[in-house]
Amino acid sequence: MQDIDERARLPRDWSDVEGWNRYYRDLLADGRDYTWRADMRFLGHAYSLGRRVWFAGCGVALAPILYRDAGLDVLATDISTVAVERQQQRHQRPRKPDGDAVIRELLREHELPEEPERPGSFEARVHDFTEGPPARERDLVINARAFQGLSPDAMNRAARSHHDALRAGGHAIFDTNNVQGERRTAIEDALIGAGFYIPGNASERWYRERLAETGIVHIMILGRPRIPGRGQYPEDEFEQRAREDQAILDRFTDEYRARCAAENDEVQRVLNERARRVAIVVYNTG
Ligand SMILES: C[S@@+](CC[C@H](N)C(=O)[O-])C[C@H]1O[C@@H](n2cnc3c(N)ncnc32)[C@H](O)[C@@H]1O
Repeated sequence: MQDIDERARLPRDWSDVEGWNRYYRDLLADGRDYTWRADMRFLGHAYSLGRRVWFAGCGVALAPILYRDAGLDVLATDISTVAVERQQQRHQRPRKPDGDAVIRELLREHELPEEPERPGSFEARVHDFTEGPPARERDLVINARAFQGLSPDAMNRAARSHHDALRAGGHAIFDTNNVQGERRTAIEDALIGAGFYIPGNASERWYRERLAETGIVHIMILGRPRIPGRGQYPEDEFEQRAREDQAILDRFTDEYRARCAAENDEVQRVLNERARRVAIVVYNTG
């Protein structure tokens, strides 16, 4: 199979609506439905908060329609008309005969009641989230890989829209891919500037700053600093110097963990109070 990235390229400028339309036309050209975008990791999170979920920058992901089938009230938006049309087509299509079994299985996996209490609802529409929220009083916003590529100004405006779309105590999940170092700080600054509370952020920043001060090139994988395979040392010195530098990076681990534990009381208090809008940034690597 031809690689997806060879066939369809993301626009460099994320405000380029026609670029996104072209991307999705190329991606959908083979007529297949992109079930590999059926990311259901946050279904339990949605159930725990309420039923009103906004998928911001939904693209052609399958998740929004599956959340509807799981009994949630879904609003899916994107600046790409092509992506939104695909979402609307899915909503209008009759459900597949095996659809209920798939949803039951998903709910079981998430340890949720196997029959949705009531049918979900669905709306997909074109919307630019740098221009304000598409709705208010949402319980959860899911932004999957539709934040990290925004320009600094667009990111600040988008952060405010995500914040203002939520009810007090609502959560916004920003799922990202291969975002490291200062780019993480830029995302978090935009979210905090918009009024979000990010659980555990003081400890994360302390850790990120200490690691950066070492000057050792590293990437975070599953929350741990790792030396990338090549680049910063001569080939013949790689093994020894990487080992030494990894040991330097690892010196901060204990204090980082202690800081996380100390911060946890405040995190629990803020989450329990349900007054602040909460942003959760998920950093995926790979
Ligand atoms: C990398 S794609 C991710 C799509 C989808 N969430 C997924 O995980 O497959 C980024 C999406 O963000 C959308 N986007 C970019 N800027 C936007 C904006 N200002 N308002 C709404 N959507 C935007 C794009 O059209 C695109 O669909």
